[in-house]
Amino acid sequence: MATGNSFRFTGVEGVRFAVENLAEACRFAADWGLAYQPSSDPEVKVFRAVDGSEVQVVCADPALPERTPIGGGSGLCQIIWGVEDQASLAALAEELGRDRKVEYGTDGTLHSVDDLGIRLGFRVARRKPVNYEVTRYNAPGQAERINRRAQVYKVAMPREISHIAIGVDDAAEAARFYVERLGFIVSDRYANRGLFMRCSASGNHHHVFFMNARVPGTHFNHLAFKVRDIHEVIGGGQHLESLGWSTFAGPGRHTISSACFWYFQSPFGGSWEYAADEDMVTEEWEAQDFAAVSHIFSEWTFGLEKSDGTLKGPISHSKEQKL
Ligand SMILES: [Fe+2]
Repeated sequence: MATGNSFRFTGVEGVRFAVENLAEACRFAADWGLAYQPSSDPEVKVFRAVDGSEVQVVCADPALPERTPIGGGSGLCQIIWGVEDQASLAALAEELGRDRKVEYGTDGTLHSVDDLGIRLGFRVARRKPVNYEVTRYNAPGQAERINRRAQVYKVAMPREISHIAIGVDDAAEAARFYVERLGFIVSDRYANRGLFMRCSASGNHHHVFFMNARVPGTHFNHLAFKVRDIHEVIGGGQHLESLGWSTFAGPGRHTISSACFWYFQSPFGGSWEYAADEDMVTEEWEAQDFAAVSHIFSEWTFGLEKSDGTLKGPISHSKEQKL
């Protein structure tokens, strides 16, 4: 059993999607603000955030297991986790090799699967933070932006992948592999119906979120990208809307993780999320158990459909009403 971050995880390095409409997916990724990166394999389209976190896109092909997304249609094909060094990869290969297939790809990525059959990749992290000037705010009596106009964002330029959310039949069961085998830590939870987990004690509030879904089976729900501040969330979202892409939820602010967000429906089988100002935590963070009620999804959101008392957003897909 893994304890702590014995594999020295760094975060989500990349996510591979298999999609039914490759051109549409590539257009969305570019509009999202990711940079197209020519790849050595013409079948794999690669888009990167500023720090090098990447989205890989291939055409879905049900005849090929490695191109068949979890849940069918368009969706998640593989989550690639970063680790600090080669020794961590070797330790992972030994741990996972006890009860499942592990193999190294030609580029050194270690491939395996979790207990739900989600393909996992592990590689020495290539993400490199790129410095930038953080937003300065003029709070009453504490001005930090003097004689300078505020930055305007016409488009978003996502800095990094933050987290991935996956709908499952049993979130607690899905999380077990990550906690017991990989040493992930539960940051917050909705009882056993939604678990936010981080891959290392210090850093992001969560890198992966499993939630009980109304739709049976395992499905990609959303992928979140960090942007610099709430203004970039809004600027990026307005740009997406101007190009005809549809809002899934937002803009708004999450109750859990504190992030300002705007989700868009995507051609990847779920939504993509701009996120700013998420909680960052250390080993001193105390996980809380929240009631799995719809309104816990956000502290506030514009454009909510409230008429039935529920909120439009990912957690409204939880099956808590049935429990
Ligand atoms: Fe999210």
